[in-house]
Amino acid sequence: MEDIGTVHQQYLTEERLEARRGFWQPGPEGDPATAALDAIVASGAHDVLELGCGTGAFAARLRAAGPIRVLASDQSERMVAVTRQRGVEARVLDATDLPMPDDSYDAVAALWMLYHVADRPRALSEVRRVLRPDGVFVAITIGSDHLADLRVEAGGAPVQPGFSSENGEEQLRAHFSEVVRSDFRTRAVFDDRAAALTYLDTGHDDVRWELPEFDTPREYAGHVTMFVCRD
Ligand SMILES: C[S@@+](CC[C@H](N)C(=O)[O-])C[C@H]1O[C@@H](n2cnc3c(N)ncnc32)[C@H](O)[C@@H]1O
Repeated sequence: MEDIGTVHQQYLTEERLEARRGFWQPGPEGDPATAALDAIVASGAHDVLELGCGTGAFAARLRAAGPIRVLASDQSERMVAVTRQRGVEARVLDATDLPMPDDSYDAVAALWMLYHVADRPRALSEVRRVLRPDGVFVAITIGSDHLADLRVEAGGAPVQPGFSSENGEEQLRAHFSEVVRSDFRTRAVFDDRAAALTYLDTGHDDVRWELPEFDTPREYAGHVTMFVCRD
């Protein structure tokens, strides 16, 4: 589990998140965030809460997708400010302590964020509580093989997220009776060694990354899983 202080520090500003995002391209199964958007729109949701919204890109897409009222939220004040600049309603909230009454939302989204939450059972209980009985919860996370080739080549080890493609379903089944998963192969493309090191340095790994020089673009495989959950 990640240290809470580290999470605060990592997301104090948006630069690391933006730097990481720029390297990714969808694979044959398409873009996972678009799949999450489609799942929420197809559910007919009107009131949507996003947890850990980061810079608000997904919330802005949701708002543009139809007559949907979106509240984006993040533990980082800066992320909330950046999201508001997109014209999206946003609040500083901790996913483990939601101030909303029961049955407030038709859909809740948590994309690439649950692995940062130390008390995940509490966050998932909160999601279940604020969701209406016929509501949908959409979570996205990564697998332990995500970028594993690059991490090992650079002297590190594969990631071991506390909420992952491998262990996420079991955690969700403690709170939802229906959990449907979809897996996406994604691709990170680095033009040269410096770009790959820039990416690796956006994390808070306790590793001194080392990579041999390369100056023609290299592609490394990612693995993303979307879980769509209902009661
Ligand atoms: C990897 S970023 C993902 C951001 C966004 N969902 C995206 O897909 O670009 C994780 C985000 O979750 C937020 N976060 C981490 N722990 C949180 C918590 N307990 N409650 C709310 N937000 C949290 C971080 O501040 C950060 O903005």
